Amino acid sequence: VTTIDSVAAVRATVTAARAAGRRVGLVPTMGFLHEGHLSLCDIARRRADVVVLSIFVNPLQFGVGEDLARYPRDIQRDARLAASRGVDILFVPDPAQVYPEGGAAVRVRAPDLEDRLCGRFRPGHFEGVLTIVAKLFNIVPADVAVFGQKDLQQLALVRRMTSDLNFALEIVAGPVIREPDGLALSSRNAYLDPDARRAATALYRSLQAAQAAFSAGEHDPAGLAGAARAILDAAGGVTTQYVEVVDVISLDTPSHARPGHAVAVAAVVGETRLIDNHLLI
Ligand code: PAF
Repeated sequence: VTTIDSVAAVRATVTAARAAGRRVGLVPTMGFLHEGHLSLCDIARRRADVVVLSIFVNPLQFGVGEDLARYPRDIQRDARLAASRGVDILFVPDPAQVYPEGGAAVRVRAPDLEDRLCGRFRPGHFEGVLTIVAKLFNIVPADVAVFGQKDLQQLALVRRMTSDLNFALEIVAGPVIREPDGLALSSRNAYLDPDARRAATALYRSLQAAQAAFSAGEHDPAGLAGAARAILDAAGGVTTQYVEVVDVISLDTPSHARPGHAVAVAAVVGETRLIDNHLLI
C-alpha cells in the first residue's frame, strides 16, 4: 500500500490510473479500521482495479462536546490492515490541505433528509459529512465509492447528493458487519467499558424483536418500533434516542412496513452514542 498525504498527489495518481483505463474505487473512512471498513474494501476490490482508502477525522462533522479530540486513531495499524486487504492507496490528507482556507465557508446541506433521525441529536453533523464527502469525491475522482449500510442516514444523504449534484460516480453500500453477539462494528465500540459492552447488545436484540414482530404479521411501523423499544427500555444503562421504521431512500416512515424498509435505532449506552439498523426481510 502506498500512503499519500497530498491532495495534488492523490488526484494526479488517480487521474493517471483512470486515463490508463483502470477503474478506481474509493472507501472514505475516519480510520481505526475494523472488519466493517475492511469489508467495504473487499467490495471496492471486486468493483475496481485500484482501491483508495481515505482516512480523515473530519472536524466539520463533530459537534461541540462530541468526541473529536478522543476519536480513536492508529494509522500504523490501519496501514497494515489496509495492505492485508489489497488496498492500493491509503490517502491520509493533511487537514491544512483539506481545508486550505482554515474552514469551509461553502457547505453542502440537504435539510429535508438531514434534520431527522440522527440529525435531531447531532445538529450540523450531516452538513459536515456531506461537505467532506463532496470534497473527497472531487479530490479522488473515483468510478465507485463504497459506504456502510450501518450509517443508514449518511448513505441516503450521500446517494441523494451524488444524484442532485451530478457526481459521476456510483455509490455502493456494504452490509452491517456484527460481532458474534450481534453488536454492529463501530470504531466507537472502543469506548465501551465491560458493562456498557454487555448492555450494547440491546440494540441488535431490539432490531431482532422488530423483525420477529414483522415476521409474525405486524406491519404497522409504530407497532414494530414499539417491539424494538421494549427491548431497549428493558436494558439497563441504555437511553434510547429514536426507534423508527423508514424507507432507506426517502427516510420517510411508510404507512405499512414492507421488506427492504429499515428499522433504525440510536441509543446512548453508558457514555457512548451507538446506532444500528436492520433491513426487514
Ligand atoms: O462514515 C464515516 O466514517 C464518515 O462519516 C465519512 C463518510 C468518512 C466522512 O467523514
